[in-house]
Amino acid sequence: MPLLEVQNLQVQFQTPEQTVYAVSDLSFTLDRNETVGLVGESGSGKSATALALMGLPPAKITGGSIRFDGEELVGKPAEFLQKLRGQKMAMIFQDPFSSLDPTMSIGAQLIEAIRIHLPLKGKAAYAYALELLKNVHMPTPEQKMRQFPHELSGGQRQRVLIAMAFACKPLLLIADEPTTALDVTVQAQILDRTAVLQRQHSSGLLLITHDLGVVAETCHRTLVMYAGQLMEAGTTEQIFRNPLHPYTQGLLAATIPLEKPEARRQPLPTIPGQPPSLTQKFTGCPFFPRCRARIPNLCDKEKVPLYSLPSGRQVRCLLYADQRSGTSSDVSSV
Ligand SMILES: Nc1ncnc2c1ncn2[C@@H]1O[C@H](COP(=O)(O)OP(=O)(O)OP(=O)(O)O)[C@@H](O)[C@H]1O
Ligand SMILES: [Mg+2]
Repeated sequence: MPLLEVQNLQVQFQTPEQTVYAVSDLSFTLDRNETVGLVGESGSGKSATALALMGLPPAKITGGSIRFDGEELVGKPAEFLQKLRGQKMAMIFQDPFSSLDPTMSIGAQLIEAIRIHLPLKGKAAYAYALELLKNVHMPTPEQKMRQFPHELSGGQRQRVLIAMAFACKPLLLIADEPTTALDVTVQAQILDRTAVLQRQHSSGLLLITHDLGVVAETCHRTLVMYAGQLMEAGTTEQIFRNPLHPYTQGLLAATIPLEKPEARRQPLPTIPGQPPSLTQKFTGCPFFPRCRARIPNLCDKEKVPLYSLPSGRQVRCLLYADQRSGTSSDVSSV
């Protein structure tokens, strides 16, 4: 049984003016000791997915199933989910500033996080907090315990959040663009540290990022989302060597291959057009208007199923209808 099994997840945001169908069909699994990358253009529903998995508002789950560590989470009371967060699952957000309390020292915040979830008090809690900072290779950790968030660099603040996330030795860690705001060297250090801690705790990691280079280096499997739907999933090797979905092909073409730094001087190809607004529901493939392989009167007419291919990959594109293995099904997961 996988650590996390998501089936046909649907997530909405309700604003006074409109409903946003942020996730309309997402299925995947994630195991302990596994890193799965979640990629897709801005607005494709990645953060909505993360919020839904963590049971955090304002994301509202309107359909599907999330089984985590043997239990169904959809429909569970808020208190149950709150207990789970910080005990069995933890999340690292993009902006460490807004996740830290500017009025509390780093040490006080770490100790507070520890005491909510672990039976540690006083000196023992302090010692554990210090150990957590050392685990993320924080320079001068004793001094940092006394300092406030604004006295730390962006990279150091992100280290604090990673330290907090691992305080409870989570089974599942969700990192939503954890290093976007940091320079490349610090990014690499932070991701390295996260990977080491993940291995130590045998956690599963869902890594949301725009950086396909990071995905290629760190993720075992990759999920490609577009307009709230899973478009393609497979091993990172499969996806990067031979992207099947025209959307994935466009996404990868818009990235400079690491082995071709000279390509940096050329303008990057982009996928023409914009992702659609998610205030609508789609009848056909949401990528249809931008797709160079589209078949009019077919792809735009009916919802495209997620096909499972014999190679174990999945793709939501009619081009692969003939290659599917067994029955085409939306409920099959990676
Ligand atoms: N709090 C919110 N209230 C209403 N709509 C929201 C809210 N958060 C996100 N949305 C909408 O939900 C859709 C999915 O957004 P989401 O934040 O999940 O995208 P994303 O893939 O994480 O994008 P990015 O790469 O820019 O972080 C978008 O249309 C977005 O405008
Ligand atoms: Mg996001």
